[in-house]
Amino acid sequence: MKDKITIIGAGSWGSALARIISDNGYKVIMYDTDEAIVEEINTFHTNIKKLPVGKLNDGVIATTNLKEAVDFGTIILLVVPTAVTRLVLKQINEVISNSKIFVNASKGIEPNTFKRISEIVVEEIDSKYIKSFVVLTGPSHAEEVILGMLTMVTSSSKDLSSSRLIQKILSNKTYFRVYTHEDVIGAELCGSLKNIIAIASGIAHGLGYGDNTRAALITRGLVEIKRIALVLGAEESTIYGLAGLGDLVVTCTSMHSRNFQAGVKIAQGKNLKQTLSEMTMVVEGARTVIGAYQIIKKYNIYAPIIETIYNIVYNQKDPKKEILKLMSSSLKEE
Ligand SMILES: NC(=O)c1ccc[n+]([C@@H]2O[C@H](COP(=O)([O-])OP(=O)(O)OC[C@H]3O[C@@H](n4cnc5c(N)ncnc54)[C@H](O)[C@@H]3O)[C@@H](O)[C@H]2O)c1
Repeated sequence: MKDKITIIGAGSWGSALARIISDNGYKVIMYDTDEAIVEEINTFHTNIKKLPVGKLNDGVIATTNLKEAVDFGTIILLVVPTAVTRLVLKQINEVISNSKIFVNASKGIEPNTFKRISEIVVEEIDSKYIKSFVVLTGPSHAEEVILGMLTMVTSSSKDLSSSRLIQKILSNKTYFRVYTHEDVIGAELCGSLKNIIAIASGIAHGLGYGDNTRAALITRGLVEIKRIALVLGAEESTIYGLAGLGDLVVTCTSMHSRNFQAGVKIAQGKNLKQTLSEMTMVVEGARTVIGAYQIIKKYNIYAPIIETIYNIVYNQKDPKKEILKLMSSSLKEE
């Protein structure tokens, strides 16, 4: 029987993924707690607040009923902000009645525990209901995917048959292509940490710096991501693939990136609260930087860009002075 997919989180990325999945001929239901979003999807097949461009297919349905959503799918695709993932998983565990493939498409690390979503799934869902875990990540702005612009991402799992199944369900010959690999840790860490570098890139842009600065931040940011990811068990090849370099480039160079946009606002003198209140979509880097900062302190990892962003966002340090401070550290070999 053909797999059916339950998308948890009918926001920007959840909607774009629903479009791909239904374009590819699979049945999909979306779950969200926001009643207005659910009603708009069911009535007009749009999600204007979260994704002002493009349309969902008529067959895509949405619900606020978690049990209905969880019962529907053989695959549970998580696309909620990572700040609520643990809570949502607890709720899923209360209504789930048979085993499913869990796929995570959200990007973040939990503060204080440093847990990745794959670890949180194992903690919150009874093991008899977890068939396998897959992480879906890579350079992919919802705004481009929903318009059918060519996009390539990765499907990573220790269970090759599951990563291949997700590859098959999501790939098509016109605009979306999925590669498989096995490095779940690397995929999760790269997808999460790049958002911090995107905030730095947005700050630099907001301060009036240009392409040279951005290129330097991407390159040195990749080095920091690599240092952290390797200490935590990632494979080096992942850092240079779509999940690593690919996602870092897109998020540091595009105004579609909420993390980049947040950086621009911070450069304009807005504090974190003001910045987040002006965004209609989640800014994962602002939360991930807490866990990343704790990790670099715990493991004594040299990561000056990440430390700088933490100080600007949480210690109210002046963005211009902090970015210049990066220039004044002792001169060293690349
Ligand atoms: N937007 C993109 O292009 C994109 C691409 C790749 C990955 N991501 C990642 O996907 C995740 C979601 O991002 P987004 O841009 O779709 O965010 P978003 O803010 O557009 O959507 C999040 C959705 O989750 C819903 N939600 C919040 N709390 C909930 C709860 N307790 N139960 C059910 N639903 C709840 C919200 O109502 C909202 O509709 C993030 O981790 C982001 O980094 C986004």
